Amino acid sequence: MRIGILNGGGDCPGLNAVIHGVVGAADQLGWEVIGFRDGFEGLLPPGDYTVLKPKDTIGILKLGGTILGTTNKGHFIAKVGNGDIAEVAAEIIAKAKRTMDQLEIRALIVVGGDGSLTTGLQLYREGWPIIGVPKTIDNDLGATALTFGFDSAVSTVVDALDRLHTTGESHKRVMVLEVMGRHAGWIALWGGIAGGANVVLIPEIAFSLEKIAEFIKQREAQGHHSTLVIVAEGARMPDGDLVTIDANKAGEVRLGGIGDQVAASLQQMTGKETRACTLGHLQRGGAPTALDRILGVRFGVMAVKLAAAGSFGRMVSYQSYDVDSVPIEEAVHQLRLIEAESELVLAAKAIGIRLGD
Ligand code: F6P
Repeated sequence: MRIGILNGGGDCPGLNAVIHGVVGAADQLGWEVIGFRDGFEGLLPPGDYTVLKPKDTIGILKLGGTILGTTNKGHFIAKVGNGDIAEVAAEIIAKAKRTMDQLEIRALIVVGGDGSLTTGLQLYREGWPIIGVPKTIDNDLGATALTFGFDSAVSTVVDALDRLHTTGESHKRVMVLEVMGRHAGWIALWGGIAGGANVVLIPEIAFSLEKIAEFIKQREAQGHHSTLVIVAEGARMPDGDLVTIDANKAGEVRLGGIGDQVAASLQQMTGKETRACTLGHLQRGGAPTALDRILGVRFGVMAVKLAAAGSFGRMVSYQSYDVDSVPIEEAVHQLRLIEAESELVLAAKAIGIRLGD
């Protein structure tokens, strides 16, 4: 029995832990694992892949990124823009299928976010033996309560807030930290609560700059001369606009710059010296936390278990401390967003964090 694994989309701490889990569990069954390079692209003839044996995964648990490489471009892009689905072209699928057949791949484990899993779903519907493993630092995939990489990203955010706190306090400044989170504010809200932010701005909740400025002035009057603001890149400015850098060829926008805009407005409205810092890809790189490593390994093991059972078209899922699986279509059809009245938001508000609403 030979199975394949590939990862697609942006990298994420914990991808190597999944590979480690898959290779270890497959080896126990006497199976061979083929790792395709650079996502689905590695399937295109002549095929770009490597045989993965347990000895090839020694020491990779602690490595960020992915030993297989990844891409969020190429021939297999299924999501363009926000929620628009593009089918992968039939001739591309036919070429990739030739590689699958030649190598006699009996199960293909796709470790990916919304885009790669949507491609995986299309292939499954065309008869491919696909198993999905959810991956995104944004933690916004439906049908799983947690994705690996998220905890590592939050840890980086908390470290950054700790540092911004000391410099902000020393200079009596407002410090604005922009973090990732395209559609959902999980990184901002978890990071903000854990890192002691005073204001958290997320895509799910519209904010008013006037209210935040008023809050900063109140804090000033109460003797709190520094304020920590965290803003998700996907939050919308009060006029409803996203702040973008540019759009790629597929029409998907690169987000970035809202931290600078919020900082400039708050400085102007409060008269307080304000500085902005964008964390960017520091949140995606580096070693995974212990939680992301164990999550990755367990996801990998579950993927092999699904392959052994012939349970194709399913995605590994984390629910209430257990790793299980759900149909892939349940995961890709809706993003998991923060609800304004959720316990998490209310807990943040209960300790005085403002969300700008
Ligand atoms: O979806 C994960 C994510 O990290 C988003 O938060 C961010 O907008 C995007 O990827 C960045 O992608 P890229 O690495 O292509 O700039």
